Amino acid sequence: MKDPIIQVNHLSFSYNGSPVLSDVSLTVMEKEFVAFIGPNGGGKTTLIKLLLGLLKPDQGTIKIMGQSPAKIAHRFGYVPQDVSFNKSFPISVMDVVLMGRLPFHRWTRLSRNDRIAAQKALESLEMLEFQNRKINDLSGGQRERVFIARALATDPDILFLDEPTANIDSQGRTDLYALLKELNKTKTIFVVSHDTMVLSSYITSVACVNKDVHYHNDAEITKEMLDMGYHCPVELIAHGIPHRILKTHEGNND
Ligand SMILES: Nc1ncnc2c1ncn2[C@@H]1O[C@H](COP(=O)(O)OP(=O)(O)OP(=O)(O)O)[C@@H](O)[C@H]1O
Ligand SMILES: [Mg+2]
Repeated sequence: MKDPIIQVNHLSFSYNGSPVLSDVSLTVMEKEFVAFIGPNGGGKTTLIKLLLGLLKPDQGTIKIMGQSPAKIAHRFGYVPQDVSFNKSFPISVMDVVLMGRLPFHRWTRLSRNDRIAAQKALESLEMLEFQNRKINDLSGGQRERVFIARALATDPDILFLDEPTANIDSQGRTDLYALLKELNKTKTIFVVSHDTMVLSSYITSVACVNKDVHYHNDAEITKEMLDMGYHCPVELIAHGIPHRILKTHEGNND
C-alpha cells in the first residue's frame, strides 16, 4: 500500500496581488509519475516552486512526507525551466553537477564519493565526456542534460522537472523518459511538459494546472479536462493515445 507523499490543502498564491493559484488541494501517493500539464501562465512552475519551498503559500498548507517543504528540501531534485546561463560565469560541467551535492556538505569539503556520484549522473545522461567543458560551451540540449544530471546527483526521493526536454532531440527525449521510468521504481516524479504524446506511456497520473489543479490518478482524459480549456488533453485526444478513454464528466464544479 502506497502512502501519500504530498498533501496540499486549500493552497492559494498570488504574485503582488494577482492570483495565480487558488484553493488548490492535491494528494499524491509515493512513486507516482505525475505530468503537470496546462496552458502557458497556468501556474505549473509556480506550483513546483511552492512544493519546493521556494515560494510560500498565501493561504493553505503543503506537507511533503509529513513535513514542510523547507525541512525536506534535501530530498528533492529539481530541474528548473530556464537553464540559460550567465555567459560570463566560467564554470565547468562537473562543477555544475557537483553543486547539486552541496546541500549535503554544509561545512565539509566535497569528497571522492561526490565526484563519483556526479560522474554516474553525467554518464546516465550521456554527458560524461563533457565533464571538463565550460557549461556555456555546450548546446542548449546538452546544457539541459547537465542540469538533469545535477538533479540526479543527490539520489533524491522526489524529482521535479520543469520542461526538461524543451531543447532535447527526439532520441534524447525517449532516452530521458526511459531513464525516468527506471528511476520511478524508487522515486516520485513530477514533470512539466507539453510533450504529452511521448510522456503518456510513462506517467501514472495527470495534474491539469490552470489556476486550480485537477488531479487524475488514473491518467484518463475526461471531458471535464477538455471543457475547462486545458490545451494538452485536446492534443492527446488528437493523437489518439490508445489506453486513454474520453469519459463524460459529472459534477464539474466550475
Ligand atoms: N516572479 C513573478 N512575478 C510576477 N508574476 C509572475 C512571476 N512568475 C510568474 N508570474 C505570473 O504567474 C502566472 C503563472 O506563471 P507560471 O510561470 O507558474 O506559469 P506556467 O504554467 O509555468 O507557464 P509556462 O507553460 O509558460 O511555463 C503567469 O501569469 C506569470 O506571468
Ligand atoms: Mg513554467
